[in-house]
Amino acid sequence: MGIDPKTPQLPGFNFPHRTYGHSLMVHADCFHWLRKMPENSIDAVVTDPPYGVREYEARELEQRQCGKTGIWRIPPSFDGNKRAPLPRFTALDHQERQAVRHFFREWATILLPKLKPGAHVFVACNAFMSQLVFSSLMDDGLEFRTQIIRLIQTLRGGDRPKLGEQEFPDVCSLPRGSYEPWGLFRKPLPKGMPLRECLRTHGTGGLRRRMDGKPFLDVIPSERTPRRERHIANHPSLKPQSLMRQLVWSALPLGEGIVVDPFMGSGSTIAAAEAVGYHSIGIERHRDYYTLAGKAVPQLHALSTHGPTGGLPSCNGQAQLELGAGVPVEPVACHFGVAAAADAGCDRTPAGG
Ligand SMILES: C[S@@+](CC[C@H](N)C(=O)[O-])C[C@H]1O[C@@H](n2cnc3c(N)ncnc32)[C@H](O)[C@@H]1O
Repeated sequence: MGIDPKTPQLPGFNFPHRTYGHSLMVHADCFHWLRKMPENSIDAVVTDPPYGVREYEARELEQRQCGKTGIWRIPPSFDGNKRAPLPRFTALDHQERQAVRHFFREWATILLPKLKPGAHVFVACNAFMSQLVFSSLMDDGLEFRTQIIRLIQTLRGGDRPKLGEQEFPDVCSLPRGSYEPWGLFRKPLPKGMPLRECLRTHGTGGLRRRMDGKPFLDVIPSERTPRRERHIANHPSLKPQSLMRQLVWSALPLGEGIVVDPFMGSGSTIAAAEAVGYHSIGIERHRDYYTLAGKAVPQLHALSTHGPTGGLPSCNGQAQLELGAGVPVEPVACHFGVAAAADAGCDRTPAGG
């Protein structure tokens, strides 16, 4: 059974699910949901997985509240403000790193046959974990294409040596983190098939150009997730709409098909897909986050985006998105070029260093 890219029926199977606009949100373990999907049915994946694997386990989420034990730790305060707990990936031991490898290899093995040939997979990570996560995804056949660099000040690195601050005032232990890598992968094109043929046959293989006709770029100036978005969706790893709308837009070269986020969280990918008029499916295992996504997606979708938007058109007021499929969509409000206030972000920016 295939899925018609122009009028896709979004499959929730027997898992609890809800719909909003062109989107489906499913309460399930994505490994289980993916196993039920037909082969060659997913056009693109844009996702922010639990890249330390442990951090979204029920026990770790309970311990997160205190921020003193487990993987979530409250970063040191250097300006008097108490910060939200962040996962400390440097704490992962050899066995846990092996578990990360196993998790992503298994995920890629299940995902690969469900992707259409040429389908792109965008995977959020951080500079500390990306080698491990990306190489694991490549082990079982996903083709590594490049990294998309989201320019964003993180809390990682830049510190003077612990307890040696006075002695070594001119030293920092690591560079201060200023980017977030997104791995860009692709299901290999059928042997001998040129890109133009893959686009004709499967509608996949390339990336959609920006709305101004310029190529999609591998560096995206970004912002911390704005406070107003965090007020809508209180998820520890909420990504900003100004970033997600650019990534999601580029993921479907012809503007047709389904974008899947197997690790949906509070639904920033799904809201972005709605904003650009795409069909999408989000899967979330944690009941509270699934419920949160149901409430947050309509509100995040309704937001205009502030801050750096790169690939989206510069405009004031309303931008009528032009969809390749010619599907009439609601105009999406956007007010670009206004730098957002430097809110304290809630993306996972690892502490320590
Ligand atoms: C890093 S967060 C994604 C947050 C998302 N970027 C957002 O903006 O809200 C990863 C999410 O994946 C969920 N998750 C972890 N393992 C999962 C699995 N096997 N299936 C589905 N969801 C899973 C976690 O509960 C968590 O909400």
